[in-house]
Amino acid sequence: MCGIVGILGKGPVAGQLVEALKRLEYRGYDSAGVATLEGGGRLTRLRASGKLKNLEEKLAATPLAGAIGIGHTRWATHGKPTENNAHPHAAADRVAVVHNGIIENFRELREELTGRGHKFASETDSEVVAHLVAERLAAGDAPEAAVAAALKRLKGAFALAFLFDDQPDLLIGARRGSPLAVGWSVDGAYLGSDALALAPFATSIAYLDEGDWVALRRDGAQFFDAADMPVERRRLPLTPGSFLVDKGNYRHFMAKEIHEQPEVVGRTLAHYLDLAEGVVRLPFELNIDPKSLSRVTISACGTAFYAGLVARYWLERFARLSVEIDIASEFRYRDPPLPDNGLMIVVSQSGETADTLAALRYAKEHGQHILSIVNVETSTIARESDTVAKTLAGPEIGVASTKAFTCQLAVFACLALALGRARGVLTKEREQELVAELVAAPGQMAEALSREAQIEPVARDVARASSVLYLGRGPSFPLAMEGALKLKELSYIHAEGYAAGELKHGPIALIDYAMPVIVLAPPDASLEKTVSNLQEVAARGGHLILIGSPRARDAAAAELAGYIEMAESVAGPFAALVYAVPAQLLAYHVATFMGKDVDQPRNLAKSVTVE
Ligand code: F6R
Repeated sequence: MCGIVGILGKGPVAGQLVEALKRLEYRGYDSAGVATLEGGGRLTRLRASGKLKNLEEKLAATPLAGAIGIGHTRWATHGKPTENNAHPHAAADRVAVVHNGIIENFRELREELTGRGHKFASETDSEVVAHLVAERLAAGDAPEAAVAAALKRLKGAFALAFLFDDQPDLLIGARRGSPLAVGWSVDGAYLGSDALALAPFATSIAYLDEGDWVALRRDGAQFFDAADMPVERRRLPLTPGSFLVDKGNYRHFMAKEIHEQPEVVGRTLAHYLDLAEGVVRLPFELNIDPKSLSRVTISACGTAFYAGLVARYWLERFARLSVEIDIASEFRYRDPPLPDNGLMIVVSQSGETADTLAALRYAKEHGQHILSIVNVETSTIARESDTVAKTLAGPEIGVASTKAFTCQLAVFACLALALGRARGVLTKEREQELVAELVAAPGQMAEALSREAQIEPVARDVARASSVLYLGRGPSFPLAMEGALKLKELSYIHAEGYAAGELKHGPIALIDYAMPVIVLAPPDASLEKTVSNLQEVAARGGHLILIGSPRARDAAAAELAGYIEMAESVAGPFAALVYAVPAQLLAYHVATFMGKDVDQPRNLAKSVTVE
């Protein structure tokens, strides 16, 4: 993850760029850089590896006077934190770009551009963006058209800011999956990764929606949507404090947090992966020999427990480890025997959940190595663990967990692949294939979010029910339970998640048209079996709602009361990461349609410190 900023000012902006970057340093600080237009519009860059103070020293030695500029603070994903890899990246002295996120298809693009004579100066994924734009500019496009064309070539989740040679009154920003805000004051116009970066300068702010791009000038901003149609974005006052509890363009924190997932899952993956090599690189020592590991035990509560249930499939399949898993409130009192050389994984967003902490302490007393997956690094659970694997979800304000859940899945997936490799189960090539599937997930989540409109009619239908059944197989089974949990806690509609294969062992008796049956059916190895279960529901006059790709819909060949279409490409073992998005959105829209308090559902607390 990285921080980006852009400023159109009245005087020299380099100092303000650095000030904004300081406020973004929490997003990464292994190198930094700025670009401005000097002496009549000449694109000029100054970059430095290491902390921001190195850039400041360079600026003190070589001051920049330009009244327009962009800046970046980097947290390396592709390529080492060297000056060459630091942003802004430029091409043909025509355009400079700063980038936060991951350009998934950069290898293909780089090959294609190299074939057309482009020379690359860095190892980053970001540089391809500058070259794509420079190529369009050379072909005669105006900056806006050049950026619009380049954006269409990019896959992944990202935010971008562009500065153009000889264009002293234009910055272009774009957002897909990673946040970007625009700010204004009497002294200028601004772009930034978050409101915090803009707070010292801007007095009003607007957020780009998913897929938007903006052409920013001193006297105004033109926003465009993903189809390049002009759109309006609401401008809000930026009060001192407003950026601390900021809902952006969203009505609720939960909606904002659902939409943040491409960004935070990408950020979490980048923390655990070596993206240049395409392999997992755990940022900690396990201090336990993976080869002699006898068993993994997982314990957690609620949504975090469901993340563990999904992970069991991955740990068994990719690392050939036997996994025991239980909810913490049961585990702690079962007096379970635990093996020598055992690894205990506890999962907790808050890191303070009383039962999970007790499960951790029990396992510690019984000689287990404790690894915790937490979102709050200073929490009690983190402090009492031998190894801490953090989720980089950022603060989760909505009481119902969303982005913490998918970040927990991202960490688990990396852990399963790392253990699989260390135990000799996965070859490097297989690991690379699986990492490539993981890296695609943030982009696929962004795509799933862009289909939100199709969820609203389904939500209106579900809101009429008093009971709902969710079905899934494999990793979609725990996801069915998570979907049901989200629905019941937000809308207070009774819901159950079941393994699709268990249907005929009891719950099938419940089937009638009054009870929606929501089937999660990614096009994976168990699709046919899930479809058979779906047909069992259809044959009994059930009220079927399918979340799946067109292949699942066609295979079902049944009358559907609702259909949430997912991309065919979301098919691999990590599909649960992406299918979490429509499950969360459905619960969210049912609850908002019913007028419920989605951010603070009745009777719940964000951090459950009592047993
Ligand atoms: C549901 C939800 C809860 C928590 C559970 C554990 O949306 O948020 O089920 O997942 O209370 O909390 P943490 O992860 O903080 O231990």
